[in-house]
Amino acid sequence: MRFPDNFLWGGAVAANQCEGAYLTDGKGLCVPDMLLGGSVDKPRTFLPKTDENAFYPSHEAIDFYHHYKEDITLFAEMGWKVFRLSINWGRIFPNGDDETANEAGLQFYDNVFDECKKHGIEPLVTLCHYEIPWAIVEKYNGFYSRETIDLFLKYAKTVFTRYKDKVKYWLTFNEINICCMDAGGIGNLYGLGVIDPADLASDKPILLSDLKSDIQKTFTALHHEFVASALAVKLAHEINPDFMVGNMIAHETVYPLTPNPADIMATLDRDNYANNFCGDVQVRGEYPQFILNYFKDNGIDTSFMKPGDAEILKEGTVDMYTFSYYQSHCITIKEDVEEAKGNMSTGAANPYLKATDWGWQIDAKGLLYTLQMLTDRYPGLPLMVVENGMGAFDKVEEDGSIHDTYRIDFFREHIKAMREAVNRKIPLIGYTTWGPIDLVSAGTGEYRKRYGFIYVDRHDDGSGDFSRKKKDSFFWYQKVIRTHGEDLD
Ligand code: BG6
Repeated sequence: MRFPDNFLWGGAVAANQCEGAYLTDGKGLCVPDMLLGGSVDKPRTFLPKTDENAFYPSHEAIDFYHHYKEDITLFAEMGWKVFRLSINWGRIFPNGDDETANEAGLQFYDNVFDECKKHGIEPLVTLCHYEIPWAIVEKYNGFYSRETIDLFLKYAKTVFTRYKDKVKYWLTFNEINICCMDAGGIGNLYGLGVIDPADLASDKPILLSDLKSDIQKTFTALHHEFVASALAVKLAHEINPDFMVGNMIAHETVYPLTPNPADIMATLDRDNYANNFCGDVQVRGEYPQFILNYFKDNGIDTSFMKPGDAEILKEGTVDMYTFSYYQSHCITIKEDVEEAKGNMSTGAANPYLKATDWGWQIDAKGLLYTLQMLTDRYPGLPLMVVENGMGAFDKVEEDGSIHDTYRIDFFREHIKAMREAVNRKIPLIGYTTWGPIDLVSAGTGEYRKRYGFIYVDRHDDGSGDFSRKKKDSFFWYQKVIRTHGEDLD
């Protein structure tokens, strides 16, 4: 009952949620830099102009930019083999279409990767974790414009070449499927850099849930992202044949709420639409028939598919399938059912599951279910869970300790589920927990929604000195890694 010796244990962050230093050393603004802080009862808003009096959490985040050495040393102390992080595209091409790359930005990631190497940690780099340069949103409406494919490739080529001997594992777009889920406008803005002109012109904060979206634009931009991703995979292999490049799917694990065949069918359709559509394009290199049917039924004009695109998608399939897993929910045709809360997607609450402080249902068995479904669909393809965790309120005791037993319980059950997957010979190669160090929440913009094994003294009112503290879960995860997942007590 243990994981293989070469299993990639680690943690995952995104540049915009941890680095801060939002204009330092020539960095340009990116999408999350335009989002204000929020909370459970005060949802996050978007303000397309920087207002000096407003609180934009990504601007300072947890100041990883100046603490990366200390943080990576702590990660190494836990025994990590891999550190998932993103490069902030806006640090490399501040205006999106600059002639030359920003050397100071490149140097920063050189320093980060060197520090990882020093500690024997392999970086796993996401090229775009919602960090589309703001200038690309303004000038090109993000990936709605086909020209953005070339801007992305120039950026990808720059970093693949620069770090070809420092980074082996790459992911193209974080959660590429969120734009077509219930998140509507925010999914479009985060994932594709696409925004409605009226929202872009607003001088008042707009609730993320109120951002407008248009499915024709969504599927056009998503197609451009698929092409950009496939071209990046091809390019990566040309630059270094040893590179392993993955996709990244926000896995929406769904169950029928009842045995009513109509619920079963609705669940299957939802799984196809939310998960298998993007997965199939990136793994099999072609649009599945069910989504072409959906396009036809919904009047989507597919003229965005240009001659040659089909070949690009076929030639740029990924080497591994990676995904985030936080929760599951139920699907039903009934309308008057209790809703489960969630990240970018919602469904019916499952009466058998408990939920986190933020209402996300906890379902460790669902992780095993998801891994089994994925390996059945894509036999032999390496799988990696690159985000999993629970946001919770943490209390610092007078002596500075933090007893986060709820977090340990959450991880214990999920790691048990992965151990069972390994026993079933499912090719699971790694696990990076989300937010191993507290950071800014993407959905609500809060600090108090804490995910970390490491506590950061930073709060929603902007106070705190950014000092780091180890929580009980830090020592627990350290033991889990040391014993290859054998000792989960
Ligand atoms: C994932 C994102 O969807 O969920 C992360 O890739 C995000 O960026 C994570 O932080 C957790 O969501 P939240 O809203 O709790 O930060």
